[in-house]
Amino acid sequence: MKIDILTIFPNMFDGFLSESIIKRAIDKGFVEINVHDIRSYSTDKHKRVDDYGFGGGQGMVLMPQPIFDAVDDIRTDESKVILMTPQGEPYKQAKAYDLSKEKHLILICGHYEGFDERIRTLADMEISIGDYVLTGGELASMVITDSVVRLIDGVITSDSHIKDSFNDNLLDYPVYTKPVNFRGMEVPAVLLSGHHKNIEEFRKNESLKRTKERRPDLLEKR
Ligand code: ADE
Repeated sequence: MKIDILTIFPNMFDGFLSESIIKRAIDKGFVEINVHDIRSYSTDKHKRVDDYGFGGGQGMVLMPQPIFDAVDDIRTDESKVILMTPQGEPYKQAKAYDLSKEKHLILICGHYEGFDERIRTLADMEISIGDYVLTGGELASMVITDSVVRLIDGVITSDSHIKDSFNDNLLDYPVYTKPVNFRGMEVPAVLLSGHHKNIEEFRKNESLKRTKERRPDLLEKR
């Protein structure tokens, strides 16, 4: 898979791309991730990427020219162009699965007070990562990238994500490691029993109990 990210703050991605599972996925060739500076596509002599909004009352608005030119340059028949915006479709694990099957994603990060409305016509979809407003789409594009890359076959063992929270609309069951007794808190005995069927049943029940307590809305979707 290939992911191209369009941003006016490319340095924000340095740490994200050089650590942990994302770095390993890139190094092993599971994904190619390119970060493009929108400014480098500006035809303005001062490389401007934003201007005042018509009608007043608004701050700076991202101009269409650099973003249209960048997408024209990068897009192929296999690309899905996604605009990061709080007005987009709320992002869910099911969408992460869908996107992990795509060959090429282009993620456009909006910024400042907004982006020129005509930029919307470039996008195959608009995604919001939650009902709050970020200073820009950069963090949102990292959330999408992270959640999609870990689902690409081979990036992590599929066992790890089959049991993820939200698969089946259930939250994860609790997990423990050593020591068996930590500050008086014991690991549930069933997990030490070696009895696989009982362990499986315990985990299923814990998942259901936890989802009922914390996210009853998910159980209604099951
Ligand atoms: N840009 C600003 N806020 C956002 C959000 N919640 N989701 C996606 N992009 C955004």
